Amino acid sequence: MTIFVTGGAGFIGSNFVLDWLAHSSEPLVNLDVLTYAGNLENLATVDFDSRHIFVKGDIGDTEMVARLLAEHQPRAVINFAAESHVDRSIHGPEAFIQTNIVGTFHLLEAVRAYCGQLAAEAQKAFRLLHVSTDEVYGSLDKDDPAFSENNRYEPNSPYSASKAASDHLVRAYHHTYGLPVLTTNCSNNYGPYHFPEKLIPLCIHNALADKALPIYGDGQQIRDWLYVKDHCSAIRRVLEAGRLGETYNIGGWSEKPNLEVVTTLCTILDELIPRADGKNYAEQITYVTDRPGHDRRYAIDASKVELELGWKPAETFETGIRKTVQWYLDNQAWVANVTSGAYREWLGKQYGA
Ligand code: NAD
Ligand code: DAU
Repeated sequence: MTIFVTGGAGFIGSNFVLDWLAHSSEPLVNLDVLTYAGNLENLATVDFDSRHIFVKGDIGDTEMVARLLAEHQPRAVINFAAESHVDRSIHGPEAFIQTNIVGTFHLLEAVRAYCGQLAAEAQKAFRLLHVSTDEVYGSLDKDDPAFSENNRYEPNSPYSASKAASDHLVRAYHHTYGLPVLTTNCSNNYGPYHFPEKLIPLCIHNALADKALPIYGDGQQIRDWLYVKDHCSAIRRVLEAGRLGETYNIGGWSEKPNLEVVTTLCTILDELIPRADGKNYAEQITYVTDRPGHDRRYAIDASKVELELGWKPAETFETGIRKTVQWYLDNQAWVANVTSGAYREWLGKQYGA
């Protein structure tokens, strides 16, 4: 048996590939077009593992995806491939529409054709798991209950709107064509191989480079943080036992205001690698112009996946964030490679000189 993963060279996808090969003997085909966010260095440790079959290609290329599915006969497809950064979606939404909506549509078409010609037994076992985000539910007020699977979709950014559209397409392919789908909506991930355009790796990188730690607006926006390996274990569990056509919210019950996240990072860095001048890293915190349309609060109610499937995160924010800081300190060569060239252009565009 084989599974087929898309976007497996990105942050969550590559963590998933590494964890899958560590937990299972089942081979994995990894289709990734290698945008700026895709990095084969993340997968260096499985370079010579014959169970990992990497293919460079686009989920929007229906013919190629069809060929790969026919060749490898996977029992499941897990779709991580996406444009994922909200700020980039504000500067240039088109790539988000193209990959997250049109690309998902083409992938669904290829998977529908493949699934349709499987023998009855294989068809019954087949699953398409679509990896999505809590951002599709919009923004919560301070005292609102956390997002459950029954919340209305109210996406506010081009990124979240494109993910919402892809979720709707997945849902429609289940209802209309009976495609055996599962959808997961997860909160903010952090951990190894996180591209340093996102808050946590950006602030670790900037702190060590003696640069500003940019806080949008008042820094009181709340995100619900989950260690990436816990997201991967949830996806494995939903794939194994999730009910067809259902959506599962994944989260770590770990809401934090952004400012608290960044000061926590600073405190850990003060302890592990004190600044040469004896000052605290928190002195590098700088308030900058807010993100347009910035969602105030996300929070995930993860009771369904916990009660129905018995999944629970292994890490708390405190243990996960410490591991993450240590990972970045131990992997400065990885950081140096991904922050060369085009990365600098992005910083100029987003934060100015
Ligand atoms: P990422 O940007 O780090 O990685 C995305 C990967 O997809 C990259 O390797 C990229 O090369 C690949 N890709 C992009 N367009 C492609 C295409 N057309 N065909 C094939 N591959 C393509 O993203 P991530 O943070 O790892 O997120 C993975 C998925 O999880 C996304 O669908 C995202 O919406 C979702 N998600 C992310 C988070 C988070 O906190 N990062 C939380 C919840 C859900
Ligand atoms: O909620 C899940 C989502 O989490 C995923 O679907 C997205 O793919 C992922 O990128 C992430 O989106 P966010 O916009 O929440 O993540 P980001 O790291 O960009 O920002 C986290 C918070 O920090 C957010 O409130 C904006 C703020 N921020 C971000 C950056 C990059 C800052 O204050 N300063 C910054 O420089």
